Amino acid sequence: MAKINPALGFEPFLDHVLINEQQLQARIADLGAQISRDYAGKDLVLLCILRGGVMFLTDLMRKLTVPHTIDFMAVSSYGVGARVSSGSPRIVLDVNTDIAGRHVLLVEDIIDSGHTLDHVVRFLETRQPASLKVCVLLDKEERRTVHIPTAYTGFKIPDEFVFGYGLDVDEVFRNLPFVGVVKKEYQ
Ligand code: IMP
Ligand code: MG
Repeated sequence: MAKINPALGFEPFLDHVLINEQQLQARIADLGAQISRDYAGKDLVLLCILRGGVMFLTDLMRKLTVPHTIDFMAVSSYGVGARVSSGSPRIVLDVNTDIAGRHVLLVEDIIDSGHTLDHVVRFLETRQPASLKVCVLLDKEERRTVHIPTAYTGFKIPDEFVFGYGLDVDEVFRNLPFVGVVKKEYQ
């Protein structure tokens, strides 16, 4: 795998834009409307998994018309430079909120093997939320090795390493407003 030099900007790593800003924002508006209908009258907490889910969370919550609180947790499963999941996620930051009896919606950037969300769901279920569902922006369905039911999915994408809109390549380029595919030589 070739090494990236962030000082050169993102262009050298970008094979093509997979989902542009307009497509992302339109889909997130749809999801926001759907979630607002589904959680009307419920005590909703959005639980974002750091760091990849942050852009998605902040855009999604602006589209919600129902009251909700937010909280964060962090899970690590990839080392810098590794493009494949180690398969053994670790909770590195726990939530501050008491989720017992509340309706929890997990907000995540991407589901790949499914190991991360599987781990998080099992961990949170022990705290007895009223409900626990998953909202994921991107789904690499063909890579799944653990079954995870997802209540809300933004886009199903092919098995390629993507970056931008919260997702990083070696921790950079999370700020891009689109989702792009990393060139083969950098994947
Ligand atoms: P899983 O545990 O294999 O489902 O992996 C989920 C996590 O892997 C996500 O939360 C991302 O942080 C990371 N990930 C998976 N695929 C990509 C990708 O294409 N680009 C950037 N991060 C990814
Ligand atoms: Mg992530």
